[in-house]
Amino acid sequence: MKNEGLEMMKIAVFASGNGSNFEAIQQAIIEERLDAEIAMLVSDQPDCYAIERAKNHHIEIFSFFAKDYPAKEVYELEITRLLKEKNIELIVLAGYMRIIGPVLMSHFENRIINIHPSLLPAFPGLHAIDQAYQYGVKVFGVTIHYVDTGIDTGKIIAQDCFHVNEGETIEEVETRIHQLEHQLYPETIQKIINTTLCKKK
Ligand code: GRF
Repeated sequence: MKNEGLEMMKIAVFASGNGSNFEAIQQAIIEERLDAEIAMLVSDQPDCYAIERAKNHHIEIFSFFAKDYPAKEVYELEITRLLKEKNIELIVLAGYMRIIGPVLMSHFENRIINIHPSLLPAFPGLHAIDQAYQYGVKVFGVTIHYVDTGIDTGKIIAQDCFHVNEGETIEEVETRIHQLEHQLYPETIQKIINTTLCKKK
């Protein structure tokens, strides 16, 4: 659904690794399933593949080494300045491996979302797919939530799930989780945009 005549919502994607969710979001934009523009990719891993993907799409990149800054507040202030300059309205965390600190949190209150590969509140934190697989769960899923000061504790926006098949390997489960993420993240961002536009009217 296109918002004819309205400016695209500018979003920033934060990633530290492969960037397949970044790619899925950008693909949804190209295919006009998502009325947004990724105005910046932020990464704390200057060599990660997400950066290559952003370059391929000519998307502006801010990458940094946290150790080059005296404190989290300092690099978050720098990021905040860049995002404000670009009128970013929504921060989309997609495999960003740092905890968001008070600086970004206060400047983008209720405007930071994250995707997590489990049905929260089960299996928060690192290695969620592995944790769930080892536990023997029969239903796997993904959660999109607002970011608060806890680890994967913010208000849930969307979830989706599937039943694991008998004998399915962890690699197969992982592939299905990522497929689900790539579908659900762009759809959910579009819903957030629609709600925000309604509020602006
Ligand atoms: C995804 O599984 C996401 O749920 C988690 O980190 C992973 C990022 O994957 N937060 P990618 O970098 O988008 O491929």
